[in-house]
Amino acid sequence: MTSEQRAGGDNHVVLFAKRPGENNSATVDCFAVIPVESPTASDVGVDQCLIRTLFLSVDPAQRCRMNASTGVDYLGPYVIGEPVDGMEGVGIVEIAGSSCSLQVGDIVTSCAHLWTWTKFFVADCSDLVKVNLPPGFSPSVILSAVGLSGMTALLGIQKRARIDRNKPQTIVVSGAAGSCGSLAGQIARIEGCSKVIGICGSEAKCRVLREELGFDSAINYRAEPIGERLRVLAPEGVDIYWDNVGGFISDAVIQQMNENGRVVLCGQIAVYNTDLPYPPPIPHETAEMIQRRNIIRERFLVLTYKNEMDEAVEQLSRWLQENKIKIKETIYDGLSAAPQAFIDMMSGKNIGKMLIHEKSKGERSKQLSTVVYETTKYLKNTPALVQTKESIHQLIPKLKPFKLTSAELLQIINLRPSAPTDIQLLVEETEERFPLETELEELVNVITECLPTPPKTIE
Ligand SMILES: NC(=O)c1ccc[n+]([C@@H]2O[C@H](COP(=O)([O-])OP(=O)(O)OC[C@H]3O[C@@H](n4cnc5c(N)ncnc54)[C@H](OP(=O)(O)O)[C@@H]3O)[C@@H](O)[C@H]2O)c1
Repeated sequence: MTSEQRAGGDNHVVLFAKRPGENNSATVDCFAVIPVESPTASDVGVDQCLIRTLFLSVDPAQRCRMNASTGVDYLGPYVIGEPVDGMEGVGIVEIAGSSCSLQVGDIVTSCAHLWTWTKFFVADCSDLVKVNLPPGFSPSVILSAVGLSGMTALLGIQKRARIDRNKPQTIVVSGAAGSCGSLAGQIARIEGCSKVIGICGSEAKCRVLREELGFDSAINYRAEPIGERLRVLAPEGVDIYWDNVGGFISDAVIQQMNENGRVVLCGQIAVYNTDLPYPPPIPHETAEMIQRRNIIRERFLVLTYKNEMDEAVEQLSRWLQENKIKIKETIYDGLSAAPQAFIDMMSGKNIGKMLIHEKSKGERSKQLSTVVYETTKYLKNTPALVQTKESIHQLIPKLKPFKLTSAELLQIINLRPSAPTDIQLLVEETEERFPLETELEELVNVITECLPTPPKTIE
């Protein structure tokens, strides 16, 4: 296949369709995902290359860009009808111009440039950085471990937390099960904190913090009184507070802080759906506590440390390979899921970094063929079943959202699972080969729901 043909098909872009209103949550219709022409080899200048997006980063700062005024000077507002660009992305070079230092097949990221939410695009080589991915790692770790979130966590701890290794130090992290928070807690431990407590929005997240990420304890702010829990979990008081959220959570934590404590003011997501300035004003009692206890509360912005980013990436990459930091990712499949991924990240459905994975057509059909192959293999060993016309009529419209090709559809409707447990078994058996399970599971659920139950076998 020539480059002209390859880049010419199947491109989409996410447009910014409407502002949510400064004091509202964003909704999926704030975005529109539309098909667009792909660039071809003739669009690529000598010092440019054609990139296919692999992963896109989904970030809270994008909510601020949805307002006419972002509230900060380093980010401009989205323009209605124009493409959405995200904070970061990872892609692969499909075509390289003759003077471009990159080569076809190189994995690249955007080195503090925004990344348009589209599949194929042309970029100047100077705006991209080649990534040497350690063996066995997915390109997604560029965003979830060593990208802006990782750098924010590392530099924030190093520059603002002032951990005193000679004393026991207790840190509390809010937004702890998210991308920056999950790393900030782990890095604080490496850098010398003796107690790490996370605050997050569900029991499942609390379990991940305690059982997988090495936090000493976790508080579910939706179900537990923060101040009361902190008095039990940290009777010695809180020395450092990593503040991702602001609002009532931060007010409660600051009340438990020790003399000369430090607040790392990383973000205030609790007020991003409002028109409050950044950082937002804090209640009188909180301000008074900060003053009385001589607490340092400093705003932190990772972009201030551009000169130290290379070193930070090296450090994070070493820790990742030495298994000293663990990464969690929540991955949505394809640009069409991008609006929902953003809404879901803002409402806390992510654990770790929220990402969009743009799969190539080949990858997708390989995945589906494996489902079909495994199902067929399984069914060979199960009793034959009757598949009614009605069940297929029921099934076809339900499969529509999966945007299957006709060949894929035919393969799917020819599956004859005998019971939901058979399908479940199939998924379990093939799980290892399906890192992106959500789509597969959804597809399987739809199929399972519609197919008839098997006739009773005669003993
Ligand atoms: N200073 C910097 O340079 C810098 C750089 C990157 C990011 N940030 C900031 O760091 C923070 C975390 O960003 P991230 O990219 O790592 O996102 P994230 O934590 O992975 O995702 C956002 C999380 O925020 C929580 N959340 C949403 N609304 C909330 C509310 N009203 N109160 C409490 N928690 C809420 C949700 O988790 P729950 O289930 O726990 O509610 C959600 O999962 C944000 O404030 C972001 O702006 C700052």
